[in-house]
Amino acid sequence: MSNLFRKKSIKTMIAQSQKVELNRTLSLFDLIFLGVGCVIGTGIFVVTGVVAAESAGPAIIISFIIAGIACALAALCYAEFSSAVPVSGSVYTYTYATMGEIFAFLIGWDLMLEYVLAISAVATGWSAYFRSLIEGFGFHFPSLLSSAPGTGKGGMVDLPAIIIILLITALVSIGVKESTRFNNVMVFIKLVIIITFIIAGIGYVKPENWTPFAPFGFKGIVTSAATVFFAYIGFDVIATASEEVKHPKRDMPIGIIVSLAICTILYMAVSLVLTGMVPYTHLNVGDPVALALKFVGQNQLAGLISVGAVAGITTVLLALIYAQVRLSYSMSRDGLLPKGLATVHKKYRTPFSNTWLTGFVAAGIAGFVDLTTLAHLVNMGTLAAFTLISVAIIILRKKHPELKSTFRVPFVPVLPAISAIFCIYLSISLPAITWISFLIWLSIGTLVYFLYGRKHSLLNKEQ
Ligand code: ALA
Repeated sequence: MSNLFRKKSIKTMIAQSQKVELNRTLSLFDLIFLGVGCVIGTGIFVVTGVVAAESAGPAIIISFIIAGIACALAALCYAEFSSAVPVSGSVYTYTYATMGEIFAFLIGWDLMLEYVLAISAVATGWSAYFRSLIEGFGFHFPSLLSSAPGTGKGGMVDLPAIIIILLITALVSIGVKESTRFNNVMVFIKLVIIITFIIAGIGYVKPENWTPFAPFGFKGIVTSAATVFFAYIGFDVIATASEEVKHPKRDMPIGIIVSLAICTILYMAVSLVLTGMVPYTHLNVGDPVALALKFVGQNQLAGLISVGAVAGITTVLLALIYAQVRLSYSMSRDGLLPKGLATVHKKYRTPFSNTWLTGFVAAGIAGFVDLTTLAHLVNMGTLAAFTLISVAIIILRKKHPELKSTFRVPFVPVLPAISAIFCIYLSISLPAITWISFLIWLSIGTLVYFLYGRKHSLLNKEQ
């Protein structure tokens, strides 16, 4: 039994990360931009509209605040971990060091689901704005080939979503990396686009559109919080970059918290303006932000927003494919998943087959599953990860009082406990089918661990 809970040594991990000197080039500014770059995407550009129309109404701004608080609490825990244990790998690694191998495996398994489905979900958002963009130029993409079946839009397959995933997979598989400068430029464009929307839209706001403010009641607001949670996903990607940051102990916590704060403020402003410009019942479309501008006759600006959204969502896709490949690569290197996933291509020096496997699976799902279902599943995975990291902080404090972190979560264990309860509360608001799918996935994971990971684990061999 005890080997289920065997742990990686924090000291060894830190020593190893210091040995493998990656270039420490990232500044605090780069880190904040990295965070904002991974976070702002399909969530705000697409999910906001669907949720406002179906379950929140104008009160979606409250849902964003609730989801933001849950993320902020988890972000504090991430921040302490990343400054106490500045090695890359994020929650998977933290759990391996504090709670033991079986938890690490299951959380890694859970995050793989989260990342793959997030790639698919983000790509469907990309597809919606891509269509909006080409329609602005007079081209019409047939509905049959541009949305998943069962969405009521007469679609059979979302072809643009499949194509963009395969294109980005091809880039990642041959080693094209999002450079810091490229990322910073793209994030800058994304921010300019969103701020332009807010400023241009304010003038068209009609306060009567905000009544009724909460047509679906408090329950609707909470259910919506569990859905718009999707828009915040990605800030944890910062924690995977710690080995490349100039001053990790100081900058990681600040980077995580500031990027989350920026996103929360923007989300609140966008949702307020959006529901003020257009009656919320009209917003159930793939490109609500562009729709709002067209609604008030600002067609050119709508086109500009679509260009920005397509560009901005592309960087989220790149970051997510990276995160997924990096995670399954680490798990395979630790012996918990088959070796093939860690095989590096001779010429390109990348985990080539792992990248393509990721791309094909995500593309297959993106073509046939609708965005809301995907977003729910992604949120379930993330909420589970956030719950675990909150618990792990309490364990870290108890078991490793010697670790000196520059950032410390206040009021431990109360605050992490509230964080865990908050995440569980939100996940309970997700539809039953999400829970069933999640539990099936975890059961498969448990089988894989007992039939494969446990025996092949490097720690098993070392011991
Ligand atoms: N937070 C990311 C997005 O909204 C996943 O696209």
